[in-house]
Amino acid sequence: MANTLSKSFFHPLFFFIFLLFSTLAAAKSNSFSRILSPASLGLKKEKLTHLRFYFHDIVSGRNATAVPVAEAATTKTYLSAFGLLTMMDDPLTVEPLRSSKLVGKAQGMYASASQTELSFLMVLNFAFTEGKYNGSNLSVLGRNSVFSGVREMPIVGGSGLFRFARGYAQAKTREIDLKTGDAVVEYNVYVFHY
Ligand SMILES: *[C@@H]1O[C@H](CO)[C@@H](O)[C@H](O)[C@H]1NC(C)=O
Ligand SMILES: *[C@@H]1O[C@H](CO)[C@@H](O)[C@H](O)[C@H]1NC(C)=O
Ligand SMILES: *[C@@H]1O[C@H](CO)[C@@H](O)[C@H](O)[C@H]1NC(C)=O
Repeated sequence: MANTLSKSFFHPLFFFIFLLFSTLAAAKSNSFSRILSPASLGLKKEKLTHLRFYFHDIVSGRNATAVPVAEAATTKTYLSAFGLLTMMDDPLTVEPLRSSKLVGKAQGMYASASQTELSFLMVLNFAFTEGKYNGSNLSVLGRNSVFSGVREMPIVGGSGLFRFARGYAQAKTREIDLKTGDAVVEYNVYVFHY
């Protein structure tokens, strides 16, 4: 009987299968990546959410929420302030009034990225602090030509309830104080997430 066992172990087909499985097992245990089912992360059905809020870009006064942090030696020679980099921690509210309920902050920066028109590179996170999205964030990376009617910027990701987020934000200036530069911008955000 021992004889037949050892014979079958060395059968070429048996040996081939053994080799295949041991290679697969080794590949699995040494690998830094694996395939998961979305359900194993608790991800169920993808949904589409629309968020609307008002963004307050306050550049004037002692309580400014957007402050210039850098510029090029030549920035002032451009009408478009090419090279100007502004850091913001702008409040987001449910209504156009600054005193209406705060739902989060837009934290990040905008940089004048065009030599010929006022067009910003926007790199920011919407950090929500209200309702079910409290603690969740969305990340925006886009182009914002502030004098055109509706600007569209991609939502490139998110965290918390917005994990795996993708979508777009539409920005429309509602008010601009031409003396101070303070602005209220309506944001409509459409985002797929789980
Ligand atoms: C800045 O904020 C403080 C505290 O909220 C307030 O008392 C002050 O009036 C504000 N100043 C301006 C210029 O808005
Ligand atoms: C949002 O979450 C923080 C931290 O969990 C909590 O302190 C805060 O009260 C929450 N805000 C609202 C409006 O629920
Ligand atoms: C979202 O951003 C806040 C900062 O505003 C951070 O504390 C929090 O950890 C982020 N949420 C998640 C889920 O990563």
